[in-house]
Amino acid sequence: MNKGLVLYKSKYGAVKKYTAMLKSELPCDICEIGKDKLPDFNPYDWIVFAGGIYAGGISGLHILKKNFKHLASQKLVVFCVGASPYDEKSFAELKAHNFCGDLKNIPVFYGRGMWDESKMSWKDRALCKMLQKAVAKKDPSSCEPWMKALLCSAGTACDWTDRSYLIPLLSYLKA
Ligand SMILES: Cc1cc2nc3c(=O)[nH]c(=O)nc-3n(C[C@H](O)[C@H](O)[C@H](O)COP(=O)(O)O)c2cc1C
Repeated sequence: MNKGLVLYKSKYGAVKKYTAMLKSELPCDICEIGKDKLPDFNPYDWIVFAGGIYAGGISGLHILKKNFKHLASQKLVVFCVGASPYDEKSFAELKAHNFCGDLKNIPVFYGRGMWDESKMSWKDRALCKMLQKAVAKKDPSSCEPWMKALLCSAGTACDWTDRSYLIPLLSYLKA
């Protein structure tokens, strides 16, 4: 039986929700980056690094980067969660921005998360409002999918988390 570990970082709960869904489908150990003590990675056959996307970066990815050299025998996967609808071009840019060198070969999967300005920290809310204002001034025909989603979700509470986003990841882990 394959032994698996999910290392996750979640600020507003979407990644945590996906982690719980994953565990219910595929028994594994869970470790919350920044809260739990990092385990010994050696006993694991596969490790999923799951994190929210913040300003184009994937939270918690530093743990993978720091430990990558010692993770030669494990199947490694990244599951990232953002508010934007999936878009091939944006996803390719996200991967190019976050993965370089040997990390380029790690499979990356995407799930759509949550958006609730009322639950955001003051700083995050201010940042999002600033971005929304800047995007609102743009010609709608030149807006990227994430910009349109940002405008649509302004002032509303959205939860796009869905088990279906885990299907490609589950298939990969079970193969
Ligand atoms: C300050 C801030 C920046 C964000 N930047 C992005 C982004 O660049 N791309 C994206 O798709 N979502 C972005 N989001 C949305 C989060 O990725 C989304 O809320 C996700 O569900 C976060 O997962 P978590 O709650 O588990 O941390 C941002 C949210 C905040 C508050």
